[in-house]
Formats: sequence, structure tokens, C-alpha cells
Amino acid sequence: MPAGSAVRRIAVVGAGPGGLYFAALAKKLAPHREITVWERDARDDAQGFGVVFSDETLDGIAQADPPVFAALSAEFARWSDIDVRYAGQVRTCGGHGFAALDRNRLRAILQQRCAELGVDVRYRTPAPPVARLAAGYDLVVAADGVRSATRAALAEAFRPELDERHCRYIWLATDKVFEAFTFIVEQYDFGALQVHAYPYSRRRSTFIVEMAEEAWRKAGFEEPAGREPGRGESDLPSVRRCEHLLAAHLDGHRLIPNASRWIRFTTVRNASWHHRNVVLLGDAAHTAHFSIGSGTKLALEDGLALAAALHEHPLLEGALAAYEGERRPVVESAQRAAQASLEWFETVGRHTGQGAGQFAFNLLTRSRRVTYGNLRARDAAFVDGVDAAFGGAAEREAEGRDAPSDDTVPDAGAAGVPPMFRPLRLGRLRLRNRIVVPPLATFTAVDGMPSGFDRAQLAAQVLGGAGLVFTGMTAVSAQGRATERCPGLWTDAQEAAWRSVVHAARQLGDTPLGIQLTHAGRRAASAVPGPDGIGRPLADGWPTLAASPLPWEPGAPSPRAADAAELAGAVADFAAAATRADRAGFDVLGLQFGHGHLVSGFLSPLTNLRTDRYGGPLEHRLRLALEVLAAVRAAWPADKPIVVRISAADWAPGGTTEAEAVAICRALAGAGADALDVSTGEVVAHQKVPYGRGYQVPFADLVRNATGIPTIAVGAISGHDDANSVLLAGRADLVAVGRAHLYDPLWTLHAAAEQGYAGPGARWPQPWQPGSRRPPGPGADRVAPRLRLLPEAAAPVHRRWLPPDHPAAGRPVADRPDGAPGDGPPGDLPSAPPTGRQDELPGRKPTEPVPN
Ligand SMILES: Cc1cc2nc3c(=O)[nH]c(=O)nc-3n(C[C@H](O)[C@H](O)[C@H](O)COP(=O)(O)OP(=O)(O)OC[C@H]3O[C@@H](n4cnc5c(N)ncnc54)[C@H](O)[C@@H]3O)c2cc1C
Ligand SMILES: Cc1cc2nc3c(=O)[nH]c(=O)nc-3n(C[C@H](O)[C@H](O)[C@H](O)COP(=O)(O)O)c2cc1C
Repeated sequence: MPAGSAVRRIAVVGAGPGGLYFAALAKKLAPHREITVWERDARDDAQGFGVVFSDETLDGIAQADPPVFAALSAEFARWSDIDVRYAGQVRTCGGHGFAALDRNRLRAILQQRCAELGVDVRYRTPAPPVARLAAGYDLVVAADGVRSATRAALAEAFRPELDERHCRYIWLATDKVFEAFTFIVEQYDFGALQVHAYPYSRRRSTFIVEMAEEAWRKAGFEEPAGREPGRGESDLPSVRRCEHLLAAHLDGHRLIPNASRWIRFTTVRNASWHHRNVVLLGDAAHTAHFSIGSGTKLALEDGLALAAALHEHPLLEGALAAYEGERRPVVESAQRAAQASLEWFETVGRHTGQGAGQFAFNLLTRSRRVTYGNLRARDAAFVDGVDAAFGGAAEREAEGRDAPSDDTVPDAGAAGVPPMFRPLRLGRLRLRNRIVVPPLATFTAVDGMPSGFDRAQLAAQVLGGAGLVFTGMTAVSAQGRATERCPGLWTDAQEAAWRSVVHAARQLGDTPLGIQLTHAGRRAASAVPGPDGIGRPLADGWPTLAASPLPWEPGAPSPRAADAAELAGAVADFAAAATRADRAGFDVLGLQFGHGHLVSGFLSPLTNLRTDRYGGPLEHRLRLALEVLAAVRAAWPADKPIVVRISAADWAPGGTTEAEAVAICRALAGAGADALDVSTGEVVAHQKVPYGRGYQVPFADLVRNATGIPTIAVGAISGHDDANSVLLAGRADLVAVGRAHLYDPLWTLHAAAEQGYAGPGARWPQPWQPGSRRPPGPGADRVAPRLRLLPEAAAPVHRRWLPPDHPAAGRPVADRPDGAPGDGPPGDLPSAPPTGRQDELPGRKPTEPVPN
């Protein structure tokens, strides 16, 4: 049977980009097919404004159907810059590669292609019910958009999840032609407002205004002025108000509505994308927040993949399974990036205290897809500028010189140092870099005595170059051990053993050494953790104490609810262990107030059901934490830092909220913690953790911006690129890298070598100096001959969109009369030049000259 021959009659619901592109490609691959598309709107009903693509999508379109690509290319506005307009300044980052066009032109080109290929598109014709289509056609493609009626009709099969987000946005155009992708973030008395704008034709730009629900309400947008707009009408009073609020950016130009009103973005996910002979495509199957500009791209790629799968698989079921199998991971990856991006914008107010350069870097790396390294490859000058300002501030703070009030003064001597190798002051300590080896238990102790392996691990990590190294969890009492292979610090012998471990490590380097103290609470008396990292309670362990008598999992032994005397005993044990830790020679004290251990069990509403003064409202649940911290603070020298680890989320319904996490951290900072180590989870067994690269970083970001004390981000930050991104964006002050340091104890030094960094932030052990350069790989001695007569011209970092009829169009940016890249319509506010000059918006002082 020829490929795809089982599917001869296809019904497509919806003539959006997804439905039309699929129909065209499916018909092109098998012209004998009968393909009918139903579209409820008229052929030329005006729809939205522009649509923007990245270079990557264009490659796919170019290859799949050259005529469509050629038609689209003729219309594209192309540019490579992103302008971030914030706090009266503009920061420009180049090298990105965008192409945009009018959505109506996109649709017209796809309509034309469908007509050429013989697809039957029926406009102004709502599709028949899906049951009827499914009975009459071999395949029904539901490309009916975000509010898909097909999906709703088969909800039991597709199991959709619709997540309506917290911001309000209004989708508009303007006749101001922006020269680049432009993010505007403005702070008003009602809160922050952001604009996502980009040019899409010689006369128009898309202009989406967005703000968090609370700011939107405070701004009074909730109250419709006059009558409610009817269906298809725009909320004109809001449009005029936005025009007024953003006048400085619009420069006398208008905002142009088209059925524009405040709405909320809905992220659509479906457990399944196909059911019998009905398949979801595009927004009907999934959405991705517009801030990563991918919805149309995903719909087009879906269309391409479905047409290809039908061609490659003889049977429908196999084709649909292949389509979903291929597309789901791509879409989920885009949705993860979109989720991070939309959450960033939902909480943009957290970052509006940052300097303009750092803010721009933070915005550009918000989705975690774009990193420090990516941006450096795209526009090294931009990253250098942000780096220099960050480094200058870091060096000054570490030396105890006055902290700068913003990032406007770059430190000329500080160039070329990756953010992870900048120093940080922690109490009296000066950490030589921003990398921490977090507590990593070895589970090798006997009778609470640290083992030879504990000694070896601390020594290895000291040799490895991190700025601060912790021991694994160390119990303050025999009862408080998580496992019987955990070390402790409640006897003189244990203290002496730790002193010897510290002494051995000191012979190898002067890296500050931390010890993490804990009472494991209901996590005590567990087995050594298995591959999932979770230790399960021993059936025959010792009696344990906790906030409430809740076993870790059904059938496990239950801890006893600690009484007041037992709690006082635990507090005293922490203080005594802190005294011993000081005498043993540690520099930093870590307190384990997370991961469901005793104190964590009191903090979380899921594990603290008490009705006494230690339970109930958060201020009561905080009591034990504050008592322990106060006792430890009194026992531990005032000039030695205390780092407190918390679980900022429980990943289970009813657990610690973000607001509570902030309140807990503020209380801990106020009670003498010098830094917060922000982890999550391990509080309840039924947690559902969205593991992924840097998945806990947003919590560090939350805490850092709320408390202002140094914050450690931890969790799946294994690459130096991610570490640099987190630090430079200001999401954390320190980055803890755990398992990667077990894989490679020299992780930090190797990161230095890989980045070509040699300096005080990465000190190789003297005897190992000869190995401090990355060894040459195979083939390193092969020298390539010259293969080109003339060198290939490098693509310019900065390309801005100027309509072809603009007087400066086609001239390199530097040749323009004012040397600035942007001299758009008359009266345009100056944009950021790419060559080192930083213009200011009216009424603001100029900023550092570098980061463009
Ligand atoms: C504010 C905003 C900005 C965006 N910006 C971008 C961007 O810059 N880049 C980008 O790639 N994406 C962007 N998107 C996303 C993009 O608009 C969508 O992802 C894309 O249009 C999805 O295409 P689709 O074909 O799946 O659905 P749609 O474009 O929604 O098309 C569905 C079609 O089905 C029709 N229909 C629905 N029900 C029926 C029925 N019962 N019978 C007949 N016809 C029916 C509708 O009339 C519609 O024409 C943005 C989205 C928003 C909200
Ligand atoms: C073997 C191992 C032991 C650990 N021991 C501890 C510990 O004693 N105390 C603690 O707070 N976290 C402990 N953790 C968690 C780590 O400190 C860190 O938070 C976690 O591994 C996530 O970081 P990573 O993704 O960089 O590994 C341990 C993790 C591992 C893998």
C-alpha cells in the first residue's frame, strides 16, 4: 500500500495558519486527496496584527514548501536587535534574527497556496459537528484555535487542561514603526506595565500591553468607561488610556485596535492529541505565551509534521501516534520556556529595582532557553557591558568599598571575568567565587563519627575550587540522624573527629568550610536513600519526633509529636552542636530547615497540625525555627556566617505558598541568618516536583528580591553557562552545584578552564598547576589550510528594520547621519546605538557606555 493512502478524505476545522498550512502540505504530498477546510469567518476578515518568527522556524518553512516561503520572504520585516526600554533607558542586544509579517498577509498567502493546490476552503461556514465529520471523513483535523469546540466536544478523550494566567493584556497595533523587537517596562503608581512590540510592515508594529491583574485593577482598567464593548468591538477608553500612558514611546503615533480588549492568556495542554480519527493541531492542542512568539510557529510546525506523518505511515493510527510522538516533546519544551517567560512577566515588579543593564539581561534570559553563553555568542559587547557593571559592583562589595546605587559605573579593570568567578562577601568571609558545594551526605558514618570518606570528600571539594564547601548533614543528636550512617556532632569524640577533618582540608587550601546541622524530625530513622534520593523510614528504626504524628508514607512508623520540653531539648542540641562546630574550626554554619526535617516539618502547613503555640498561623509555625536560630546565633561567633536552607515549596496542594516562603525568609533574615539556601520539596511523600533545568531558581529569585540578603540557588544547575546566567540576571548571589561536583570534584576549576578564565576566582592547587589547562583533544595538532580566497563577511550583530522606502534603509547602521541605529519616524526617541554609545530617554541621566 502506498504511504498515506489510507487517508483519502480529510476534514479540517479552522482556516488559521495551522489548518491552512497542513491542508496545503497534505494536498501537495498526495494530490489525489480530498481536503475540505471549514472556516466560520470570511476569507478576508481582518485578524490581529503581526506575527513574528525566528530564523529557525523559517528554515523549516523554506524546506517544506518553497513557494510559500518565497511569498512570505517577500513580505518580511527582518531585523536582529532587541531593545529593552526600562527606567528611562534603552539597552540593545543584537544577533537574534527575527522576521515578521502581517497576519492577514500570512493567511492570504496560505489561502492562495491552498487554492493553487486544490484544497476546498469554505469561508463563512461553521464546521459541522465533529461526530458527523468523524463519521464522514477518514481524518478530522481540529485546527479550530485556542477555544476549540472540537476539543471541548471530545474533552473526555483529549483531557484538556486550561490554565488561565494572572496577567491582563490587550492586543493592539501602532503606526509607529519600531526598528527592533521592543520590550517596554514602565513602573507607575499602580504597578508595572509591559509592552511587547515589534514591526511587521512598512507602516505598522504589533503592540501588546500587559500587566499583572493587581496592577490592572489598581490602574482602574477594570471599570469599563461607558458601555461594555459589544462582540468584535474594542475597548476604546482603555486603548486611549494606554496611548496616554505610553506616549513617550509612541512619539505622537496612535494605537490601533481591532476587536481589542483586556483578556487573559490561557495555556492549553492536552493529555492526548488524538482520538480515533480526530486529531488536534495548533492552538487547539497547545498554546505558548506570546512573549516567546511561538504560537503560529508551533501551529505551522504541527501542520508540517502531521502532513509528513500521514505521508510516511500507511495506517492512520500509526501516523497520528508518530505525529504526536514527534511534536509533543518539542511543544512541551516550548511550553516550559513559555511558562518561565510568562511567570517572569507576571512578577516583573520583583526586578524593577535592578539597573538597566542587568534588567535587560534578566529579561532576555527569562525563559532559560537563552543563556549567558548564547547571548555572548550573539552580542558579546552587550554581555561585556552587563558583566563589567556586575563585576565592578561585586569587587567593590567584596572589598568593603561603598556599594554602587545602580549598575551605571563599569569597572574598567574588571573585564573578562565570568560572573561565577566574582567574589562575594559573606559576613567576614570573602568567597573567591560564587560557586558552592552544597551539603552532600556520604552516608558512611558509624556511630555518628565522620568517616574516612567524609574526610576525603571535603578534601576533594576543597581542591576542586568552589568558593564555599559544605559537609553533608550532621545530626545534633543521636535521635536526629536521618540514617544510622549519618555523622553527628553531639559528643567530644565526634567533635575531635571533625576537627581532624577540617585540619586535613585546611592543608589543601583556604576555602571556607561549612557544616550543615540538622535534626531530621520525621525524616529520621530512615534507610540510606535509594536512586530517587529519598530515604524511606526503617521499619525497625529508633523513635522519632516531629511537629505532628504523621508517618512519611502509609504504613511507615509514625513519629511522636514533640512536647515543649523535647523542643527545648532540640534547640539546646542545635546550640551545643554549633559551639562544637566552631571549636572544630568550621567557618560557616548551615542549618537544615528544609526537606521535611524537624524544623521544616514545623514550617509547612502540610506537616504541622498542632494547635499549640508552635502550630496554626505562620508566625506560630515559625516559632521553632526562630528559637533554633536565636540559640545557634548566640552560640556561634557573631562574625561567622549562618546559612539557612529552606524548602520554599512543598509541591503538593495546601503546602507552603510563595507568600509564606517570603515571610519565612524575611523572618530568618531578621533573626540573624546571613544567607538563605533556597531548595524545595521533600516535605511530603506525595510531592509532584516539576524537575527540570534550574527548576528551583525562581524561588531563589523570589527570596533574594524579597529579603535582600545573599541567596543561594540550587537544583539542576549543572553547567557553568546556567550558573553565569543565574548570577548575572540577579536571580541569586551564589549557585550551589551538587551532583555535578560528585561527577567531577574539579567542576569549578574545569569550568574556569572551559571559559578560558585564569585568575583569583579559580585557584588551582599548586602541585596541580601543570594540569590547569584543558588537555588538547584528538586532532588538535591538525592545522587546517586556507580554503577561502576571501574571508566570508560576518553577519552584522545589529540589524534594525527600516521600511524599504525609509531614507536610511539599506545603509549600515554606522553610516546613518546621526550614527544611531534608530532614526524612525520624526520625533522618535533615540534608541540605543550598537557601537558603544548609550543614549538616554529625555529627562534621564546617561548610563554606562558599554552594554549594547
Ligand atoms: C496576543 C497574541 C500575540 C501573538 N503573537 C504571536 C506571534 O508574534 N508569533 C506567533 O508565532 N504566534 C503568536 N501568537 C499565537 C498565534 O496567534 C496562534 O498560536 C496561532 O494563530 C494559532 O494558529 P491556529 O491555526 O492553531 O489557530 P487560529 O489562528 O486561532 O485559527 C483557528 C481558526 O479556526 C476558526 N474556527 C474556530 N472554530 C470554528 C468552527 N467551529 N468552524 C469553522 N471555523 C472555526 C477560527 O475562526 C480561526 O480562523 C499570538 C497570540 C496572541 C494571543
Ligand atoms: C548524594 C546526595 C546527598 C545529599 N545530602 C544532602 C544533605 O546532607 N543535606 C541537604 O540539605 N541536601 C542534601 N542533598 C541535596 C543537595 O544539597 C542539593 O540540594 C541537590 O542535590 C540538588 O542540587 P544538584 O542538582 O546540583 O545536585 C544531597 C544530594 C545528594 C545527591
